[in-house]
Amino acid sequence: MTTQLLSTTEQDLERAAELIRAGGLVAIPTETVYGLGANGLDAAAVEKIFLAKGRPQDNPLILHIHDASQLPDFCREIPDAAWKLAERFWPGPLTMVLPVADAVPKTTTAGLDTVGVRCPDNDATREIIRLAGVPIAAPSANTSGKPSTTTAAHVLHDMDGKIAAIVDGGPCRVGVESTIVDLTGPMPRLLRPGGIGPEALEQVLGALIVDRAVTGEIAKDAVVRAPGMKYKHYAPAAEVLIVEGPAEAAARYVRARFQPGDAVLCFEEELPLYAGCNPTAYGRESSPATLSAGLFGALRKLDGGDVQRIFARCPTGGGISVAVRNRLRKSAGFHIVNAEE
Ligand code: TXA
Ligand code: MG
Repeated sequence: MTTQLLSTTEQDLERAAELIRAGGLVAIPTETVYGLGANGLDAAAVEKIFLAKGRPQDNPLILHIHDASQLPDFCREIPDAAWKLAERFWPGPLTMVLPVADAVPKTTTAGLDTVGVRCPDNDATREIIRLAGVPIAAPSANTSGKPSTTTAAHVLHDMDGKIAAIVDGGPCRVGVESTIVDLTGPMPRLLRPGGIGPEALEQVLGALIVDRAVTGEIAKDAVVRAPGMKYKHYAPAAEVLIVEGPAEAAARYVRARFQPGDAVLCFEEELPLYAGCNPTAYGRESSPATLSAGLFGALRKLDGGDVQRIFARCPTGGGISVAVRNRLRKSAGFHIVNAEE
């Protein structure tokens, strides 16, 4: 199959919608990461997503809608909290888990009786959903186990020849996947940190339970609420070691151990500390949004070469830094040292 490259002209968006309606796979831009989209109501189309990604069948997909008013078409028993969150954060990087309606096939939800729904903050993609007349089921548009894709070039690298088209909407603004909150239990539960920080959710929801998957390592056989959280995601081929602690202490730690074949993933502010240590900056420590926007691209870049080990610096603090920390820790397989100990 030849993968078509589409732009965001009205004509190309109509073409993308047509391909979706015909049961094809189309990579779509969103504010978080690129999605690998198919008609979310067509089980046969959705099955192709799992094949193209090499994704385990027990990992459910997020359903993308163009407007919150579509919620009742695909979910049941929608609590007030869901409407409040939609009002405050949609379109935007928030996925809500709600009881699924009959219209959604089991293939999309991996057999669960709930579904993750999100209205992405990207005009082109919302237009495609509107034109297609169906919700778009889409995981991140990367090969399973690789970092999510934040540019059309990343998508092409992973999916060339495997999907019908890629809509190039430019680089993704947020750069890490959406925040997922489960609203099906007695208390709202944060399943995955993302573009919306836990503090902002709490402002709307009052209390919020933070799932252990957000901060800690999960045992292989544990029952997890977001099935995707149990896989070691976002991992480059190189071994990743997170070095915590103040800038100077961390640099001393790394410099004492640095060997040929190693690389450093750090903040722009720290580049001078790692001269001669093959450093790559993924953003500024003083601006966490630049860190989330740059993380996956930097991991992909380091993954491309012959780097064997990556010493990584990780932001502290709340907001989107929680998501950056979560993704980096996973890519490191929770291999973390404190430079001062
Ligand atoms: O920002 C995003 O969310 C991107 C863009 C494309 O929208 N999508 C994305 O999809 O990150 P994916 O498939 O890579 O990650 C979805 C996560 C998985 O961990 C999956 O297990 C979880 O959401 N999930 C999906 N439906 C769920 C459900 N009903 N209950 C619990 N977790 C669910
Ligand atoms: Mg993913």
